[in-house]
Amino acid sequence: MRGRTRIAHLPEHAGQEVTLGGWVTHRRSKGKIAFLVIRDGTGICQLVASVRDVDEETFARMEKVTQESAVLVRGTVREDRRAPGGYEVLVRELEIVGPADEYPISPKEHGIEFLLDHRHLWLRHRRPWAILRVRHEIVQACRDFFYDNEFVLVDSPILTPAACEGTSTLFETDYFGEKAYLSQSGQLYLEPAAMAFDRVYCFGPTFRAEKSKTRRHLTEFWMIEPEIAWAGLDEVMELAERLVSYVVERVLERRRTELEILERDTSKLEAVAPPFPRMSYDEAAEVLLRPENVARAKEAGAPPFEPGNDLGAMDETILGELHDRPVMIHRYPARVKAFYMEPDPENPDRALCVDVIAPEGYGEIIGGSERIHDPGLLRRRIEEHGLPEEAFRWYMDVRRFGGVPHGGFGMGIERVVAWICGTRHIRETIPYPRTINRIYP
Ligand code: 4AD
Ligand code: MG
Repeated sequence: MRGRTRIAHLPEHAGQEVTLGGWVTHRRSKGKIAFLVIRDGTGICQLVASVRDVDEETFARMEKVTQESAVLVRGTVREDRRAPGGYEVLVRELEIVGPADEYPISPKEHGIEFLLDHRHLWLRHRRPWAILRVRHEIVQACRDFFYDNEFVLVDSPILTPAACEGTSTLFETDYFGEKAYLSQSGQLYLEPAAMAFDRVYCFGPTFRAEKSKTRRHLTEFWMIEPEIAWAGLDEVMELAERLVSYVVERVLERRRTELEILERDTSKLEAVAPPFPRMSYDEAAEVLLRPENVARAKEAGAPPFEPGNDLGAMDETILGELHDRPVMIHRYPARVKAFYMEPDPENPDRALCVDVIAPEGYGEIIGGSERIHDPGLLRRRIEEHGLPEEAFRWYMDVRRFGGVPHGGFGMGIERVVAWICGTRHIRETIPYPRTINRIYP
């Protein structure tokens, strides 16, 4: 609608007449004065009408309009310290554009499943509003970071013929009579692109048929993945700590209001700056095997850490609490990691890989590595992992035609949003979560 002012811009119009469009969140009247609060996605604004100043119909509409009805209002902007947002509008005319039925989400407490069933409406409320605006900032910060650091965006396909991260979490589809899978990661497609553009990244939805119902897993999530030609593990780690620090700083700088709504303790985020502590898997194992940590895992009912195995959620929580900023665990046993990881020349049982673990119990936010560039070794790994050779022939070509060391990582956007916002469960960090038992709405 032309000429409509958005609530966030009211301060620029103090004393002027404006037209606002919004949805009614609260209504109350005190005899000769009626109040409405409306929300338009940019802010909230109190509307005031006095019997003396408006015609009868307008006053009646103010008194009976239902919650979440959409209204168009004309009135004068007045500064008022007590009003939410610091401004209110003295109504002259009010039109109900879209009346609302009885609205299912009331101010009383609702269970999380009820709210998720009504996600399409719940999006209008304060908490989702704040979280998804932080998400928006994080995504934009990542894109700006890569742009400013001369990375080229190379989108990877979603329909793929092969697995990147293990065959147990593939979503299978029928591709004109052939099997195809929804992408678990864009990495395999970025490696060739790094040989063409030097530094590249992709950002898109990725899919894992995760059967686990944890607070850290979705079946559809968004991953941002950089890949750099001529890079080793150290460069991968340096890039990871720079990216994460940049993103946190950017949210602190631009999304204070949202973090306040979420009651996030921002002092915990202020500490996030390079360098991040680095710890080898073997050093991490030593920490996890300390009696107090063994006892802690047992108390929480978590499976005990066993040297040589991958880290569990509880192990990550313990390691993440050692420091005031994310910790980078490197050189995991090759056997628990993906087929494409370069072995450590000093100990070939270990992979040149890194997981970045967020503090405060948020677990792994980044997984990355140096990639195998020797064609013979890569062929053996593909075979050992039982992967179909034909589907990887094109991927082998990166090694056949001028293979060089290279590496990169993937950062799960929802895990980062959960950590920065301080939301316990990842399902609130994506507009429409997909989990093992939810594909609605
Ligand atoms: O550690 P992952 O599996 O690494 C890869 O996919 C590599 N191919 C990335 C690369 O090197 N280009 O996943 C990367 C990140 C994890 O650290 C985590 O943040 C997120 O993706 N992630 C998930 N987030 C939500 N739900 C899930 N089921 C996730 N699985 C992984
Ligand atoms: Mg991982």
